[in-house]
Amino acid sequence: MLKFFIKAVTRILSTDFFAKLLFGIDCSKSTAGYQIGFSTILMKKALKKLVKSNDKVLDIGTGALAIHGIWIRKNIGADVVATEISDKYIESAKKVAKYNNINIKILKSDLFKGIKGRFDWVIFNPPFRNRKDSNGYRIVERLLKDAPENTRLMIVVNAFYANQKRIEETIKNNDYAIKDTITKFLNPSKVYIVEKQA
Ligand SMILES: C[S@@+](CC[C@H](N)C(=O)[O-])C[C@H]1O[C@@H](n2cnc3c(N)ncnc32)[C@H](O)[C@@H]1O
Repeated sequence: MLKFFIKAVTRILSTDFFAKLLFGIDCSKSTAGYQIGFSTILMKKALKKLVKSNDKVLDIGTGALAIHGIWIRKNIGADVVATEISDKYIESAKKVAKYNNINIKILKSDLFKGIKGRFDWVIFNPPFRNRKDSNGYRIVERLLKDAPENTRLMIVVNAFYANQKRIEETIKNNDYAIKDTITKFLNPSKVYIVEKQA
């Protein structure tokens, strides 16, 4: 029942109308479909709270819309580099950014591979298909291991698709500390604000 409800709400939210309403972004030029989930929405709350206009943000796994990258650039003014592993999402994200008159770099990369420079924030909504899918945990682990020194990360995880306790263990077992968590009433996701342990 809950599964059905979450899927139905996600489907409703993943429409051009709600994308515009929630993020102020016209997503109609996406060429790869898209999903705006509870995690996508909660990440916006974390960005609003923590990202400053003079920050530099790396949006890893930006998806078919580059939704967070575009939102940050448009609403906060911070510098953004958005990355994706999927060619078809990159192509789509570039079209969406252009249509919305937002100039951000959108690059192909596997996590930090080939990414140069220092970032104040690295944000990531890791891919989890369901709670039995171990790939998402492996990607989070790789993200933590590969992150440059002194990077602050925001990692958002939906309890419906992943075990948040296991994410918390993965963070701690890789010598990171959870500095803060961001939640919202009725949203099953959690944003973890993490930093390398001193
Ligand atoms: C859950 S979606 C998040 C999309 C968007 N950022 C959002 O929050 O709605 C995860 C994204 O990460 C991308 N991805 C998966 N593995 C990746 C990797 N190793 N490096 C970069 N991006 C990756 C996927 O292609 C997908 O677009």
